[in-house]
Amino acid sequence: MRPKVLITSKIPSVAFTRLKSRFQVTWNKSQLTEDQLAARIRPYHALLSTLADPITARVLQQAPQLRCVANYAVGFNNIDLDEAKKRGIWVTNTPDVLTEATADIAWALILACARRLPEGEEMIHRGRFKGWHPLMLRGLDLEGKTLGLFGFGRIGKATARRAKGWNMRILYHQRNKEKGSVEKAYGARFVTFQTLLKESDILSLHAPLTPETFHRFTSSEFRKMRPNSIFINTSRGALHSEKDLILALKKGPLFAAGLDVYEKEPKIERGLLDRPNAVLLPHLGSATLKTRDRMAELCAENIRRVLLGHRPLTPIFNIKSGK
Ligand code: GLV
Ligand code: GLV
Repeated sequence: MRPKVLITSKIPSVAFTRLKSRFQVTWNKSQLTEDQLAARIRPYHALLSTLADPITARVLQQAPQLRCVANYAVGFNNIDLDEAKKRGIWVTNTPDVLTEATADIAWALILACARRLPEGEEMIHRGRFKGWHPLMLRGLDLEGKTLGLFGFGRIGKATARRAKGWNMRILYHQRNKEKGSVEKAYGARFVTFQTLLKESDILSLHAPLTPETFHRFTSSEFRKMRPNSIFINTSRGALHSEKDLILALKKGPLFAAGLDVYEKEPKIERGLLDRPNAVLLPHLGSATLKTRDRMAELCAENIRRVLLGHRPLTPIFNIKSGK
C-alpha cells in the first residue's frame, strides 16, 4: 500500500502534484483545530503542515505511523519538537527559499514607517489631499542611520545586505557572535542586547520564537530605545508585548512600528489598529509567487525523501536511523 500523506491547508498545488504520483495524498483545504488534527492524523505517514497548525504532543501521540512533519514555514514554534524527536519523527522547515522575500518585507516596512506611506495613502483614498505642503507628513531620513538586528541568521543577514544602499551602520545581537570574516562581509558588528536597544535607529527582529525570546521586548526595553526610532517585527509576534508596544508608539520613544506578525494571529490588539504610526501587514513575509511555490516544492521533497527512507533536505534536528 502506498504511504499516506496529509496536506493540512490550501497551498500551491505543486506540492500535491509532486506527492500524488507516489503517495496517497489527502488535501484538506480549511484550517484544522488541534482536536481535528488529533482526530484525523492516525492513518498518515507524513504531514505537510503550516505555521497555523498546532502540532502538539497530543496530536503526535495520535499518530503511530507518522514519520515526517514538513512545516510550510521557516519557523516551527507550532510543533512540539521534543515529542517528535522522542517518537523518531522528522520535522522539517523551509529555510533559504524564503530568505530574500522576507528581508524585502522587512525593508518594505522600514520604508513605510520612515516615510509614513500608509498615512499618505489613506489621505489620498479619503479625499484629504489638498496639494503639496511643506509641513505635510514629514518622516525620517534613512541615510547613514544605525540598523540594529535582533537575530543575525539568514534573514537578518539578507536584511543587513540591503542596508548598504543607505550607507547604514549595522549592529546585531544574538546568542553567538559570528566569525570576524562574516561580520566583515556584512559590515556588521556584534553588540550586547543593551547596546542594540540604545544605539539602533531602526531595530528589526529576525529571531525564532523560543522560551528565551518570548516577550523579549516589553516596556523596559522600549524605554531604552532612541527617540524617534523604528521597531520592525517580521519574525513572530510573541517576541514583543503588543500592549507595551502600543504605549511606546503613543508616548514614545518610537516614531513608528512595522509589524508583519502578531502574538495571537489573526487577532490584533485593538490599540494597535488605532495607531497611525503602526504599519500593519497580514503576515506576508514569504508571500511572493515564486517563494510560495519553492516552499511547497521543498516540503514535498522533504516528505518524498523521508518516505523513501532517506534523510530530508532541511531537518530541524537529526534522527539517527529514521523509523
Ligand atoms: C513564516 O512566518 C515562516 O515562518 O515561514
Ligand atoms: C517636491 O515635490 C519638490 O519638488 O521639492
